Amino acid sequence: MIRPAEHPEVAMEAYEGKAKIVRIVGEDDVEIFYKDDATAFNGQKHEQFAGKGALNSRITELLFRYLEDRGVPTHHRGRLDERTLAARRVQIVPLEVVVRFLVAGSLQKRTGLDYLTPCDPPIVEFYYKRDDLGDPLLNDEHIRLLGLATEAEVSELGGRSVAAARHLQSLFAGAGIDLVDLKFEFGRTPDGLLLADEISPDTCRFRDAETGEILDKDLFRFGKGDLVAGYRTLLERLEAALPGAV
Ligand code: TMP
Ligand code: ASP
Repeated sequence: MIRPAEHPEVAMEAYEGKAKIVRIVGEDDVEIFYKDDATAFNGQKHEQFAGKGALNSRITELLFRYLEDRGVPTHHRGRLDERTLAARRVQIVPLEVVVRFLVAGSLQKRTGLDYLTPCDPPIVEFYYKRDDLGDPLLNDEHIRLLGLATEAEVSELGGRSVAAARHLQSLFAGAGIDLVDLKFEFGRTPDGLLLADEISPDTCRFRDAETGEILDKDLFRFGKGDLVAGYRTLLERLEAALPGAV
């Protein structure tokens, strides 16, 4: 709990996650600070990388704006400083929605399919946001049993996720980058569901379409190279593919 000096009577809450701090600053508003921390394997691996927070907040801002311009409602409101974004306050749905265009990561492990086998149509999976359980994969019946979302919401979450992921896939294709898979989170509001949280190389897999070079958190997860250099390259290529980006 944080009490701001200028309003000591207002007890403001802040939630610290593995890579971000969310401060509640009003009935409908939050400020999201991007830390330099990277974690993997449910926090077992943890390091700090100077510059990561600024890169992820910039990439997230550009991607939310790109999606908003294509009719995808998000919680994004604007930028406050180099590492802090303003967003609408939402009730986060405790599900991570993963969309996969190519096989990698846990899908490769679960199925034995070859790395980068195409998934057409894309695969949609739901994971339970529960660190103490290791974020397990859930099917629709588990979601119903746990009361995490209604059947209508599950279908809306899946449909909206695939639509948003396809927009991002085509954006990155224009930058010569394959979007392998990604994770979305959604928030409930009185006006319906909004895409929330972040969209960054922490939450997506990106590969150079020509060379296969890794441009995401797999650099850190599997010790495959310099995380900050990879995220910077991703941002530069994204900015080049988005001519209007300011
Ligand atoms: P996975 O192959 O490890 O299941 O990951 C699929 C995608 O979801 C990948 O782009 C990384 C992202 N992801 C997160 O953003 N947070 C998580 O906790 C996990 C496990 C994956
Ligand atoms: N973000 C998760 C963690 O910190 C898992 C991952 O992305 O690999 O453990």
